[in-house]
Amino acid sequence: MDLIAGGTESSAVTVEWAISELLKKPEVIAKATEELDRVIGRGRWVTEKDIPQLPYVDAIVKETMRLHPVAPLLVPRLAREDATVAGYDIPAGTRVLVSVWSIGRDPALWESPEAFMPERFLGSKLDVKGQDYELLPFGSGRRMCPGYSLGLKVIQVSLANLLHGFTWSLPNGMTKEELNMEEIFGLSTPRKFPLEAVVKPKLPAHLYAEA
Ligand code: HEM
Repeated sequence: MDLIAGGTESSAVTVEWAISELLKKPEVIAKATEELDRVIGRGRWVTEKDIPQLPYVDAIVKETMRLHPVAPLLVPRLAREDATVAGYDIPAGTRVLVSVWSIGRDPALWESPEAFMPERFLGSKLDVKGQDYELLPFGSGRRMCPGYSLGLKVIQVSLANLLHGFTWSLPNGMTKEELNMEEIFGLSTPRKFPLEAVVKPKLPAHLYAEA
């Protein structure tokens, strides 16, 4: 049960952050819509098999996980032997917290780190599979998230379908500058205020009846 709850919560939190970032950047929604219309067309939903053909949606997911890693400090580690890291002595037995939240916003690693720019991942080999230390939303090494492949697919397909099947806008009267992006710092770093948005279907009506 914990496994199912953990995996579902992480994916839902990530998708909610993605939509929040997109509501602040209508031009990113427009680009994603262009990709979805071209690759999928308006006659069907997106499936897992389509994901390799949707590099822009993939870039949106990576950019969301860079700015909003679900586990901002991963899981605590324990140094098993004395070590020196960047000039600091770490004695054996030290509890080590890796702040992937800070790494994802480090200006030495990322250009305009505070900006939501999926384009930075287009044509880049950077991935979220624990090999590229700039981007570790699933951690790395032997304690890396064993559910990363499932989690990633769930996020990609859910987000793609939410963008493909609906137009998105903010509630009446709210500007994109007013959309609050505070987070609750904790185990899964969700939004402080749940997202409210207005959705309208944009595919043929019979597709919603089946879904
Ligand atoms: C968006 C989805 C997910 C994200 C962002 C995520 C993230 C993470 C992170 C950061 C860790 C700690 C890794 C480390 O410290 O190196 C972790 C551990 C773990 N994750 Fe996930 N996870 C996701 C989905 C899932 C799913 C779908 C499952 C199971 C079906 C799962 C099961 C686990 C388990 C069991 C651990 C503990 C592994 C260990 O300590 O040995 N996760 N996850």
